[in-house]
Amino acid sequence: MHDLQLAAGGRLRHLITLAGMPRATIERLLERAEAMRHDSQGGARPLDLLEGRTLINLFFEPSTRTRTSFDLAAQRLGALVINFDIERSSTVKGESLLDTIHTLEAMHCDAFVVRHKESGTPETIARNLRSNAAVLNAGDGNHAHPTQGLLDALTLRRRVEDFSKLSIVICGDIRHSRVARSDVDVLRTLGVRDLRLCAPPELLPQSDAAEFAQCSFVHTLDQAIIGCDAAIMLRLQKERMEAAAIPSEADYFARYGLDAARLARAKPGCVVMHPGPINRNVEIADEVADGAQSLILEQVSNGVFARMAVLAELLERR
Ligand code: NCD
Repeated sequence: MHDLQLAAGGRLRHLITLAGMPRATIERLLERAEAMRHDSQGGARPLDLLEGRTLINLFFEPSTRTRTSFDLAAQRLGALVINFDIERSSTVKGESLLDTIHTLEAMHCDAFVVRHKESGTPETIARNLRSNAAVLNAGDGNHAHPTQGLLDALTLRRRVEDFSKLSIVICGDIRHSRVARSDVDVLRTLGVRDLRLCAPPELLPQSDAAEFAQCSFVHTLDQAIIGCDAAIMLRLQKERMEAAAIPSEADYFARYGLDAARLARAKPGCVVMHPGPINRNVEIADEVADGAQSLILEQVSNGVFARMAVLAELLERR
């Protein structure tokens, strides 16, 4: 993958995964995201770094946060953005994915932001391009969601000095979660040692899954959250589960839902994160989602800055 993603000199060519990404690259992107926050004064002041560049959002799965924030990030850097409407495109007439990509490339564009239910689709596109366009993975199957990993790291980094001292639990549908995989990749690289995965057995990955090596697997949230500095809650991804793999929602909430009583078992001030969309009272109680320890909307705000940083790194003219 690294031959594909990193050019000579360590410059990013595409963004497909955070697995194996050098710590220096991750830290550079996080610094840049902070600079974007500063330069845009936390808001909508446009910068012109990407003037004349064109980005195409290609979302084959639904999205609220990721798509909108890529759109805003690119526009705030001065790029032109096309939100490709798959439902009304020739995809429904049977045009293949690569024919669609080559068609869009023929109109000249600089970047494709791709979300797809099949793991590996952004990589396949990147390997088959006919132009110098960059591919940004906006979530592929259960494989990776690199900009989510970066924005989660950015959100935590504002609160903590030393990642190596943190205890973090990731709880929920880990088996189907690309967010869990990208979070584990980035948090490990930044030095987190105590990473706990918590889910019902049917939603945990295989205990020998290489991408979760060195994480501990804990079966109850009551246990897993003890002494934690951060709890990252995940959505039950019903669209990726075969029927019957899940306990009832009420049952799930009783055992794995984060409510105030469970949160009290963590360290005082433990922060609560969730990539969204949240299923209220399935994986997280209202009192926690909307409570003082919740960083859920801060994550959303940081998503724009993280994506501005990535887009600048990939598309800025040098
Ligand atoms: C997630 C996704 O689509 O991977 N959402 C997001 O991008 N913030 C998580 C989810 O759908 O549960």
